[in-house]
Amino acid sequence: MSEATLIDGKAFAQSLRQRIGAAVATLKSDHGLTPGLAVVLVGEDPASQVYVRNKGKQTLEAGMNSWEHRMPATASEDEVLAQVRALNEDPAVHGILVQLPLPDQIDANKVIDTIDPDKDVDGFHVINSGRLATGQPSLVACTPVGCVLLAKDMLGDLSGVEAVVVGRSNIVGKPVAQLLLQENCTVTICHSRTKDLPEVCRRADLLIAAVGRPEMVKGDWVKPGACVIDVGINRIDAGDGKTRLVGDVDFASAAKVAGSITPVPGGVGPMTIACLLRNTVQAACAVNGISSPEM
Ligand code: GUN
Repeated sequence: MSEATLIDGKAFAQSLRQRIGAAVATLKSDHGLTPGLAVVLVGEDPASQVYVRNKGKQTLEAGMNSWEHRMPATASEDEVLAQVRALNEDPAVHGILVQLPLPDQIDANKVIDTIDPDKDVDGFHVINSGRLATGQPSLVACTPVGCVLLAKDMLGDLSGVEAVVVGRSNIVGKPVAQLLLQENCTVTICHSRTKDLPEVCRRADLLIAAVGRPEMVKGDWVKPGACVIDVGINRIDAGDGKTRLVGDVDFASAAKVAGSITPVPGGVGPMTIACLLRNTVQAACAVNGISSPEM
């Protein structure tokens, strides 16, 4: 069996960031508008610090304004809510992202609900999930948007495509299913209680794995020729005292059957920040009554 085509998310994200940079340059020259993203980081979580640094760097590289608000791990919920409200009021800030996870004393839902939905570039606010579910213009969670951009780049028009989403999280599974419905796919969402999960997955022409379980989806769950998008990023013991990153898909066996597949790392991961920048440009355009450029 021939090996699947690799879906190069790193390269796609890079070209998307270039298109975003060009859109930002046009907004600046034609409208005097510089989109701006504010990130709030509470505490010292090392992985979060890396994410936040990368977000800031890529925001500046795209020609946008970037602000980082660091708060101590001991910050109270009221202090974080006050920071969010101040950013809601600041007209130079078009996008607000509060890095998750938050320390235990802070209710993440309360924080997300306090973000102005029109600045909610994570797309996590219930207003935005409601807008997405009812087909209204909305800010949509970044990883799901990245998945659909990659799937469309590989398969073209998704109308009528049989799509199966493994995982039902609010951050990936549910919104990606909504986006695929908008693209006229026939969508099945499955999860840990689904009966005969391998059989359901074998229906998919487009299989999206977002369960957070290392290498769960095996090659014999994949329909020959299917497009496989792996959202998982799991660090596992590599056996030699080292660790390595794997997805939710058992890449070696799935790549023998699939038509195309995203690697981990270098697949969906790099798309997330690029889509965050895209959301920030869209938010800046919307609040200023400017039609959003193609990106
Ligand atoms: N932590 C890990 N991924 C994300 C994300 O996409 N958004 C936020 N806010 N926090 C995260």
